[in-house]
Amino acid sequence: MSSAAASSPRGFPPEFVWGTATSAFQIEGSPAADGKGPSIWDEFCRRPGAIRDRTNADAACDHYRRMPEDVDLLASLGVKAYRFSISWPRLFPEGRGTLNSAGLDFYRRLTDALLSRGIEPWATLYHWDLPAALEREGGWGKRRTAEYFAEYAHAAARALGDRVRYWMPVNEPGVVMALGYVLGGHAPGRRSPVLALKVMHHLLLAHGLATQAVRAAAPSVRVGPVINFSPVYDRTGRRFVSRGWRHALANRLFLDPVGRGRYPLGLGIPLRAMGCCRPGDMQVIAQPLDFIGVNYYSRQQGWGRRPGPRTAMGWEIFPQGLYDLLCWLHQALPALPLVVTENGAAFDDQVENSAVHDPERREYLRAHLQSVRQALDRGVPVQGYFCWSFLDNFEWAEGLSRRFGLVYVDYADQRRIVKDSGRWFGRVCREGLIPDESGEPA
Ligand code: FCB
Repeated sequence: MSSAAASSPRGFPPEFVWGTATSAFQIEGSPAADGKGPSIWDEFCRRPGAIRDRTNADAACDHYRRMPEDVDLLASLGVKAYRFSISWPRLFPEGRGTLNSAGLDFYRRLTDALLSRGIEPWATLYHWDLPAALEREGGWGKRRTAEYFAEYAHAAARALGDRVRYWMPVNEPGVVMALGYVLGGHAPGRRSPVLALKVMHHLLLAHGLATQAVRAAAPSVRVGPVINFSPVYDRTGRRFVSRGWRHALANRLFLDPVGRGRYPLGLGIPLRAMGCCRPGDMQVIAQPLDFIGVNYYSRQQGWGRRPGPRTAMGWEIFPQGLYDLLCWLHQALPALPLVVTENGAAFDDQVENSAVHDPERREYLRAHLQSVRQALDRGVPVQGYFCWSFLDNFEWAEGLSRRFGLVYVDYADQRRIVKDSGRWFGRVCREGLIPDESGEPA
């Protein structure tokens, strides 16, 4: 990257991390290869009506078998970092006990392939694929699941921590809690607010224990949580509201415990009364952090449906939300660097003569990157940006029909086609600069 890029109003600092992200269940396929055990998502997909388009992730992007070619593709795009997740049931088919080294080997090979192409690996340990065997013992409703998670985290970091420098224990605990245990639309499909409270506490404990375990196994690595945020606005839709219960539920439920060692909204009281928050837990949860991973897609839809552009998920396109959010986070936890660990959009992409023209996605990314750039101007320490997602993939309860990728996947023959937005984003990564709307460099 040229120094001109860094000094341009559309340029980013030279050390800014440019990456793209995926998760194991959404891309790997091969659900039983090399001794992998089933996860709650493998089982949830079998439930009639659970997945909107009736697909499942048995094949997904077949990444488990096509990994070397996919890493070549990543390198050819020009990204400098790749956020992937490790599948807990590949390493521990029953969730605990003996390490399955054949499953671990896949992540050793992936890490080596990335590093040999100059791509920095960023590893998530839990992107929602709880071993089904643990769910049968009570899953995240049980405290010991957090302890088994820490054992798995330790094993993963011991094996990979000499080469993987960035670790993220739990991805979006808020979505796990809300969709998995309150609304029931995600695995394990429960609808119990009381259970959801226990799950929340145990996910936080899992974060704290795993952070300790990763550092014990690999002392020089960097560790941070990945939290989904959804800024709230007043009725006019113009003013960001950083007070009140809506904001606390959407943005502070997991941030306050990990960042400050306490629950918002007085939630600590019922948790202690329920016996699941024990003395010392909040100290374990509030481990020192190296960064906060920020996942941002849209703002809260609290005051009814607004007019304006939306993605194929029905999510309002609201780039200013990312700017407001980053500024608020910096104010709330001034000492902590921020990394945008997910941001991106699904659109109804079509293949035309072996190309995918997706100007809406390019515009979405451009506008959100501009928000990141503005936050940097305000002195917010944003250290990186990961586009969700590298490949089209299995979008949970929506199935294969929602396409978030920079690369199109034809699920009939697993052909990959780099979308226009993928080429555009690769150029941004290489140059460290947002091209202007005409596509011209600064
Ligand atoms: C996030 C998830 C990710 C993906 C995007 C669209 O909530 O972390 O796996 O599904 O949404």
